[in-house]
Parts: sequence; C-alpha cells; structure tokens
Amino acid sequence: MNDIGLIGLGVMGSNLALNIADHGYKISVYNYTSDLVEKFTQEHPHENACAFTDIKEFVKSLKSPRKIMIMVTAGAAVDSCIEALNPLLDTGDIIMDMGNSNYEDTRKRCSYLKEIGIEFAGVGVSGGAKGARLGPAIMPGCTKEVYTEIGKILEDISAKAYDGHPCCAHMGTDGAGHYVKMVHNGIEYADMQLISETYLLLKYLGDYDNQKIADIFHEYNYGKLKSYLIEIAADVLAQKDPFGNGYLIDHITDSAGQKGTGKWTAISAINQGVDLSLIDAACNARFTSSHLKERLERSFREDKIPVGKTHVIKDLPKTLEKSLYLCKIAAYAQGFVHYHDASKTYGWELDLGKIAKIFRSGCIIQAKFLDTISKAYEENPNLYNLMDAPYFREEIKECMPYAREVLAAAVASAIPVPALSAAVAYIDAMNSSCVGANMIQGLRDYFGAHTFLYAGQDKPMHHEWKKMF
Ligand code: 6PG
Repeated sequence: MNDIGLIGLGVMGSNLALNIADHGYKISVYNYTSDLVEKFTQEHPHENACAFTDIKEFVKSLKSPRKIMIMVTAGAAVDSCIEALNPLLDTGDIIMDMGNSNYEDTRKRCSYLKEIGIEFAGVGVSGGAKGARLGPAIMPGCTKEVYTEIGKILEDISAKAYDGHPCCAHMGTDGAGHYVKMVHNGIEYADMQLISETYLLLKYLGDYDNQKIADIFHEYNYGKLKSYLIEIAADVLAQKDPFGNGYLIDHITDSAGQKGTGKWTAISAINQGVDLSLIDAACNARFTSSHLKERLERSFREDKIPVGKTHVIKDLPKTLEKSLYLCKIAAYAQGFVHYHDASKTYGWELDLGKIAKIFRSGCIIQAKFLDTISKAYEENPNLYNLMDAPYFREEIKECMPYAREVLAAAVASAIPVPALSAAVAYIDAMNSSCVGANMIQGLRDYFGAHTFLYAGQDKPMHHEWKKMF
C-alpha cells in the first residue's frame, strides 16, 4: 500500500509527486486524462511512484486513512475531483487541495465534506515548478488532528530555511492555508510592481542601460533587499534576446496579465476594511498596463515615454535601494495587518511570526527581510503593525527622506510610480494625527445628515449646516 496519492499530473503536480517520491514516500499518481499519466511514466520513472489510469485502483492502492493531494486548476476542476473521489473514500480519509483555490471555496468544501465524514485540507503551495520539485513553501489549513496525519510529509518535502527550519507549518483551520497563500500572492504583486517601478526609475532618471540596471539589482541582492525576486530581476534584465537583437526585456510587450489571486487579496481587504494600498496599486497597474493600445494612441506628450533626467539624484542606485526598502516595509506591514484582521474575523489564530518564518525559503517572496519580520513578531507576539517594531521604526525614519526624494523626481519626470506613491502616503497617514477625515465627516453630515463625532463627545452629532429647503 502506498503512503499518499496525487491527482493532477500537470507541471506542478508531476514535480510535487517526484519531490514526495524522492523523500522516500511511496506515491500513487493519477490524472483524469491518460496522456499525462503516460507522459509521467515515460519521462519520470521513479521506484517510489506508481501511476494509475483508473481512479478506483488509484484509491485502493492507498494506506488508510487515505491522504490524497489534488493539484488541478482552481475552481470547477477541484469540485469534479472531489465528486469523483467521494464514493470511493472512507470516513476519516483526507483530501488535500494543493492549488491556488479561493479560501471561501475552501471553507465551503471543508464544511460540506465534514458532513459526509471526509477531512479536507486547503494547502497553499508557493514556489512555482522548481519549488514543487525541490522544496516549496507550504501553508496547510486544516484541523490540528488532520495536521498530525499530513504534517510530517508536508514538512519533509518543503523548502528548508538557512537554519534548517522547514518552510511549512500548520496555519489554522479550513480556509487559513489558502488565505495565507492568497495574501502571499498579493504581496508578490506589490513586490514585483515595486521592482518594476525601480527599473523604470533607473532607466529614465538614471539613463542606465539594461546591463547596468541588472548589475545594480545584482548589487542590491547583497544588501537588505536580498530576495528571490531581486535575484531574478537581475537575470531578466541581463538576458540577451534569443529571438532578435539586443536585450529580451526591450522586446517584451509592456502589458501584464494576472490569474487573479492579487485581485482576490485586494477584494478581501476592502471587505474587511484593511488598507492594502500597495497591493491595490499593483493590481491597478496591471489593469492599466493592459490598455496598451489606448495608452499608445492617447499620450498628450509627443515622446510617449517618461521625461527623465529632470531631476538629478545623487547616487541614484543607493537612493533607490533605500526607497525600495521603505516601500517593501510598507507592503509587508499592510499584508501582515491583513493577516491579523482576517485571523480575528475567521477565528484562525494565525501566528504572524510563523508565517514570516515559512516564507523565508521556497516561495516566490522568499527574502532575507522575512527573517527580520519573523524576529520582530518573536520579540513581540502582540505586534499589530510592523511599523511599530523598534527595528522597523528606525529603518522607516532613515529611508523615508530617500523615498520622498525619489517620489518627487518621479512625479516631475512623468514616471508612473503608483506603489511608491501608495507607500509614502500610507506611512505618512499612519504617522499623522490629521488625515483630513474631519472634512469627510463634515461633508457627509452636510449633504446626508450622516452625523459626525465631535471631539470629546461619545454620541454622534448632527448640525444644520444651511437651511436646505
Ligand atoms: C507562487 C505563485 C503562483 C502564481 C503565479 C502567477 O507562489 O508560486 O504565486 O502561485 O500562480 O505567481 O500569478 P499571477 O498570474 O496572478 O501573476
């Protein structure tokens, strides 16, 4: 009998199956269409992997309680898998959804399956194909009892941080794992938007060529910004065009799509009343980018590209490094506040330090910075906003003047930097006693008698601002 089963032999599923097999677990694999089963058997024969074209035989091959991973496209395909498995499973068997499912769907699936005696775990997995094969970051959402059954294997196959700590830990019940993964992706959007803005600034303010910008990113990777995304940004910039002349980056269309997890993060924050302005800015920037034809046709300036060089910034790479770091602090502060509030809303008891710890390796946003975040939460488990951790307070104080200088130069040079702008505005607002909301209250009361709070009074008040009728 085999230890675990996996359904869905696409790129992610195959790599995850091989990772599991490499760790000495006997795995059964199955795919709805037999072509991928054949491909897997031919391309990746493994002594610990056994492929099936019949789902009944696949299920029968597993030890009890059965542990079955589903790695298929989020949405209807997950429900189809669950429906195909249901009649074949016994009470206490565990289905693990390893895809990028919406956490609300996961919550529904958990309660539906619980009623019929099947356990369900919504497991966030990050790291792309390479991560799946060599060690991803894994975010399981399930009951503690289910975690005792599946935790060891998931921790074994996960990435390990520099201190040997597995990048997998129990996140909380039902949708917690997929929620943590969703916000991870939102932060990934913000990180990438900030990197892309930094690239634009180096290109137009600095007038640097691609190789020089690649070298600057490479240099950043030795400092506080050390991260997977900065590392690959340098690679993307240095890549020569294999299809033509020059650098590949100059021939890639200036328009980016998305599968939706960033958008889900932004929507969930709006629903919860949490300010995720950097992730919002990143989503909006992708929407705006996709209006490429319109952008090209409209430009009110003849050149249609940023003005550039209107501002001379002393030591531009260093200034941008500090500015980017400041923005990163703002993005993660917002993301972790969102975790904190969602945890309360859904009763998940998310451990923010633990989340930062498992993000240190394997996942797309893995970074040295996450070690600092996990330490901040270790020092103060009640920390609400990262900006209040003594270390980050000092970092913000030091980096803010650089971010202001860059923002001013960007605006003067017509270089769009929505995420940088959101970061500076967020930090300013969250450190100010006056954000203009008194005016909003006055206006609402004026036109709609919505009342306002008068300083020092408990009860909302209304004023007849002007005789209306
Ligand atoms: C990961 C990634 C991955 C995601 C891609 C694409 O953690 O491995 O987040 O899950 O699918 O990054 O996301 P978008 O198409 O939405 O940019």
